[in-house]
Amino acid sequence: MSITVQVENLTRKFGRFTAVDDISFSVSKGEIFGFLGANGAGKTTTIRMLCGLLMPTSGKAMIAGHDIYTHSFEIKQAIGYMSQKFSLYEEMTVYENLEFYCGIYGKGDKETKSACREVAAEMGLLDIKNKITREIPAGLKQRLALSCAVAHKPQILFLDEPTGGVDPISRRDFWELIYAIAHQGATVFVTTHYMDEAEYCNRLSIMHNGRIVAEGSPLELKNRYQKQNIEQVFIHLVRRESEMNS
Ligand SMILES: Nc1ncnc2c1ncn2[C@@H]1O[C@H](COP(=O)(O)OP(=O)(O)OP(=O)(O)O)[C@@H](O)[C@H]1O
Ligand SMILES: [Mg+2]
Repeated sequence: MSITVQVENLTRKFGRFTAVDDISFSVSKGEIFGFLGANGAGKTTTIRMLCGLLMPTSGKAMIAGHDIYTHSFEIKQAIGYMSQKFSLYEEMTVYENLEFYCGIYGKGDKETKSACREVAAEMGLLDIKNKITREIPAGLKQRLALSCAVAHKPQILFLDEPTGGVDPISRRDFWELIYAIAHQGATVFVTTHYMDEAEYCNRLSIMHNGRIVAEGSPLELKNRYQKQNIEQVFIHLVRRESEMNS
């Protein structure tokens, strides 16, 4: 399988504080790769570096074959990014938001319009396309934000806590969409605090205080630490790290 995200010894400091501390990993094409970690672990900082939005202090990363230091323009063409605090225009309609965000990727008018029509149908947004965004439920807003991030058919999709604050049914529906996107060949890099969602990923990386403390498939991790579920693995690792550092 070809590698689409390759990270080596990536580090980011803010002053004297090290938010991301010498992390290395790789993600293959079509994989759903989950990043778990408590608040402040360094997940968003990592994603921002991989999307070409924040310069690392040191280390390397290649995204879809492009170097994050020198080719951030090409990276922005190859990826879709749904940020942790994504913002839709609340007073615009669903379809206007879609057209606005699709337009940002710099394709021609005709191409943008057809991409919007296609994604709205695929994502089940046609029934609500003329609704004012402020008036739709949180689960649909999340789906709209995802649609904005995938309309240009990115090779790699970065989702930073995409399901925060939505109900379990909407979260399950959202994951069906993520599976469909990966099935079409895109790589999905997702962060979450929901441990049931962690179980849906092909591979996981657990982050603590800027470092990766474990990596593997959900099954491998449960076997390695002799735990029933990923929540128990996560709690075990975070406690172990906190004890080692105290
Ligand atoms: N621009 C910045 N300046 C200074 N410190 C920062 C900056 N951005 C992030 N940090 C710090 O880096 C650490 C990692 O933050 P980050 O947002 O990457 O964590 P996270 O894993 O995404 O957390 P959460 O689960 O809360 O989203 C935190 O301690 C945060 O306060
Ligand atoms: Mg974050």
